[in-house]
Amino acid sequence: MRIVVLVSGTGSNLQAVIDAVQAGDLDIEIAAVGADRAGTYGVERSVAAGIETFVVDFKAYTDRSEWNAALTEAVAAYQPDVVVSSGFMRIVSPEFIDAFDGKYLNTHPALLPSFPGAHGVRDAMAYGVKVTGCTVHWADAGVDTGPIIAQEAVAIEDYDTEDTLHERIKVVERRLLVSTLASLAAKHAAARTI
Ligand code: GRF
Repeated sequence: MRIVVLVSGTGSNLQAVIDAVQAGDLDIEIAAVGADRAGTYGVERSVAAGIETFVVDFKAYTDRSEWNAALTEAVAAYQPDVVVSSGFMRIVSPEFIDAFDGKYLNTHPALLPSFPGAHGVRDAMAYGVKVTGCTVHWADAGVDTGPIIAQEAVAIEDYDTEDTLHERIKVVERRLLVSTLASLAAKHAAARTI
């Protein structure tokens, strides 16, 4: 199973996938890692791991649809079976979703459909819920919407700040992403042997 991973930031979820592949625990090929801006640590990690990288810089485009088209083309060039949005902080166009129909996987640091959007951790704390968590789901053209694959709860403690809570969620999120990819890879392999 070939995957392309899209990142915008530090890429610790991506690192968990790289580590699992390198340890022989995850039978997938990371065909490439792409970013929406130059200089992300996620791309740096990928280069260090010998993975191909590309940047489709959002700020280099005046027209959002042109950026979307360029991103779609860049990802499609790697013919991925699954595209993973791993801390990729851009909303992609319906054309991108169509091009990777049923193949675009997203992770989100909250229990969807609660607290979608860029501040899922902050919004859960502000609401005052006592339990939040993370979600791995197939993404559609909405903001953090689409069929849910896996979720796990994380308790919010009185002493939590947004950062401490997000770090605890990310520990669970990394494990959930790797295990989801492992089961997708197993299904992919089984489908190929039929
Ligand atoms: C993750 O919690 C992801 O769900 C959210 O941003 C975080 C990215 O973390 N959208 P990292 O870049 O993988 O460290």
